[in-house]
Amino acid sequence: MNKTVRKAVIAGNWKMNKTPAEAKALLEEIKPLVKDAGCVVVVCVPYVDLAAALEATAGTGIGVGAENCHWEVSGAYTGEVSAQMLASMGVQYVIIGHSERRTYFGDTDVTVQKRARAALDAGLTVILCVGETLEQREQGITAELVAMQAKIALQGVSREELARVIIAYEPVWAIGTGRTATAEQANEVCALIREVVKELYDAGAAQALTIQYGGSMNAKNAAELLAQPDVDGGLIGGASLKAPDFAEIVKAATVG
Ligand code: PGA
Repeated sequence: MNKTVRKAVIAGNWKMNKTPAEAKALLEEIKPLVKDAGCVVVVCVPYVDLAAALEATAGTGIGVGAENCHWEVSGAYTGEVSAQMLASMGVQYVIIGHSERRTYFGDTDVTVQKRARAALDAGLTVILCVGETLEQREQGITAELVAMQAKIALQGVSREELARVIIAYEPVWAIGTGRTATAEQANEVCALIREVVKELYDAGAAQALTIQYGGSMNAKNAAELLAQPDVDGGLIGGASLKAPDFAEIVKAATVG
């Protein structure tokens, strides 16, 4: 992390976990543990938990996010939720392009770009996920693939809007597997993403961009990952569901 030039952001990704009552209980546990956080703390929760999460976090500084949004404002899209709907509730963040959405729900680089565009238009901050599969890493195409995902998603995003974009580098092989990228591997790809952003915009924009690592980040390995110069935070799945573990990661980002 380089907190002199950019914000460190620790975001929980609860995925399809927790009822509204459980969400409230978990946040009540998290709140006192992160009250002195020296980084931005966000929880991204299932749609049905958003109201409870907003209520539980009111006045705490903890940001609330959704895990996806549709690209249209409204219309005949059964089962979908628009970015405007999220913004109207007071939601500030949304994860876009998570590998589980790409793998199980047909998200592509093109739909990811459309969703990100809609989220920015609605005033949300986008946590844009990119990352390679194990097969792609073994094929030696990680750099090209991640650059392509980032470039397509950022199409049409102005330099000004980029201030509301966080990129999360999440190697697919590290998500939920307990197999974390080494700190060097994480930093290498985060640095590469920063280079891509520098090419697309300029050095200042690249330096200001928060780039998270995600994939089995936990209380034990967070400090080492966050000590890397280009890793500015984490997108945390499993460990974000346990208040002490999540708080430990927030602490690692506070100290670093
Ligand atoms: P994990 O998930 O921390 O459980 O690996 C990270 C993510 O999918 O964002």
